[in-house]
Amino acid sequence: MSVEIKHARLKKWIDEMAAMVQPENIYVCDGSKQEYNSMMQHAVDNGSAIPLKKRPNSFLFRSDPSDVARVEDRTYISTTNKIDAGPTNNWIAPAELKETMKGLYAGCMKGRTLYVIPFSMGPVGSPIAKIGIELTDSPYVVCNMHIMTRVGTKVLDVLGTDGEFIPCMHSIGAPLEAGQKDTPWPCAPIEKKYISHFPEEDLIWSFGSGYGGNALLGKKCLALRIASAMAKREGWMAEHMLILRLTNPEGKKFHIAAAFPSACGKTNLAMVMPTIPGWKAECIGDDISWMKIGPDGRLYAINPEAGFFGVAPGTAYYSNPMAMDTIKENVIYTNCALTDDGDIWWEGMDGDKPAHTIDWKGKDWTPASGTDAAHPNARFTAPAGQCPVICPDWEDPNGVPIDIFIFGGRRASVVPLVTEAYDWDHGVFMGATVASETTAANIGSVGNLRRDPMAMKPFCGYNMGDYFAHWLEMGDRLGKNAPKVFYVNWFRKDEKGRWLWPGFGENARVLKWMTERVEGKVSAVDTAIGRLPEIKEFDTTGLKIEEADMKELFRVDVNAYKNELPDIDKHFAQFGDRLPERLKTQLSKLAERLG
Ligand code: GTP
Ligand code: SPV
Ligand code: MN
Repeated sequence: MSVEIKHARLKKWIDEMAAMVQPENIYVCDGSKQEYNSMMQHAVDNGSAIPLKKRPNSFLFRSDPSDVARVEDRTYISTTNKIDAGPTNNWIAPAELKETMKGLYAGCMKGRTLYVIPFSMGPVGSPIAKIGIELTDSPYVVCNMHIMTRVGTKVLDVLGTDGEFIPCMHSIGAPLEAGQKDTPWPCAPIEKKYISHFPEEDLIWSFGSGYGGNALLGKKCLALRIASAMAKREGWMAEHMLILRLTNPEGKKFHIAAAFPSACGKTNLAMVMPTIPGWKAECIGDDISWMKIGPDGRLYAINPEAGFFGVAPGTAYYSNPMAMDTIKENVIYTNCALTDDGDIWWEGMDGDKPAHTIDWKGKDWTPASGTDAAHPNARFTAPAGQCPVICPDWEDPNGVPIDIFIFGGRRASVVPLVTEAYDWDHGVFMGATVASETTAANIGSVGNLRRDPMAMKPFCGYNMGDYFAHWLEMGDRLGKNAPKVFYVNWFRKDEKGRWLWPGFGENARVLKWMTERVEGKVSAVDTAIGRLPEIKEFDTTGLKIEEADMKELFRVDVNAYKNELPDIDKHFAQFGDRLPERLKTQLSKLAERLG
């Protein structure tokens, strides 16, 4: 072993897992640059990674076409009682699921190396950080974990001889027989994939996929599904939220946490470049927020991650310049297209389409091909510290005090640009009823409207009815310190399919209005669905937008909302007696206001 393990329980677990999966070698990661470089070199040598001439220390991977996104249908919350996983999660009893998976794990690392990745979610050694140990047979996972989390010997030092860790077992599920040639992206077929969580023992078992949230177990599995269940037990919050700091021209700082479903704009808003003069935004995190009530009674947020695993398509200088400047070097690209001069490309990049690329499947591509050159869920993995607008306090273990919560989704119609909740309970109701069009971040159909409460449907590690109750309880504890809650929709379209709102940097105008509401500087119009801006108080200076479009963006379509009531009723009914009464009250109040 490369690094000695002095922690008896950890050593025992590794030995047990190794006996089951039977790897050829075991390697304990030290987290060093040399380690990253040598693993990457190995990936280049065996044909699974392509070095990019145009981007220093950057590499392109192409996944198997069957392994391109999270697999919600194959994701399980395994609790003793089904009801504790709730109606929004897949469930199999722990004993049965473990039996099935042990069958799959048996000998699954034959001919491969088992990598032991000690990682910290949150700054190493900070009181809020959680330590995980991922075992994996994927060098791609090791390299991504190096960027997305804090990896290495320093984590084992903090763990000492008896510290707490979350065991995260992972295998791509593709053993190599003697003499068998490896493929660039080995993985198991869909029906053998299992992304399993045992929240009653803080344990993760993942099998069969090498992609993103299925395989980088610190992210969705630990920092959201397991952490949300811990947070419920311990009285804090683990949310699918970006965190940003917005400073107004007077120098007053506001901290905003926003939950949008996968591929619905978190990375973009996290790095927003305000178009309004004098306003500055800084990024703290783009996907996950852990929040605790501080000694002063306010809610403090940290980003437990160390990197961005961002959606590539649509990322461009016109839309997200700060992301473009983050991904110039030291980046892992997955399922992007390769240009003839050795750069990456994807749909929605600035400028003309290249005349020729090699697409994400490794085939020749031209604009006439009629297919996507990059997969819609192609991603970049980049160190957060490389973001030009990273907040100087992004690693502060105390976190930042949250003033504003935003919920939102992708809605081509009905939902206005921005709405303010009447109070905390109304805000929780807004979050609990978020509906959004599905995206390529999950394997499944795209563009279907579904309820994705607090953008946590795929990530809540327990019964979502209890999760709503937890939100209400956090509000009760926060009292007057509770963040103000807003709902946004950047994705409204007209009948012709044109975006009504320019989005991106212009979204800062909406954030500005929110801070002015917090400060009591502007008024609002009370409507059936919440408080909306007075158009004359909403800053459109320097923005070319038709008055008719502004009116449409702030129109409350009472009939359309009335039509949604039965679906909200149905959505709530699935939680049975786990649904808090206070949310039923909110639904009645909404129905009453709609008349
Ligand atoms: P996950 O990493 O999957 O959790 O997603 P995310 O919420 O971070 O999504 P991201 O910011 O990467 O956005 C996904 C897509 O939405 C990209 O193609 C963006 O270009 C697009 N998008 C983001 N913000 C806006 C906006 O304000 N307007 C429009 N029209 N599109 C946007
Ligand atoms: C998401 O799908 O919300 C992501 C990407 O952030 S993944 O890590 O693959 O889950
Ligand atoms: Mn996400």
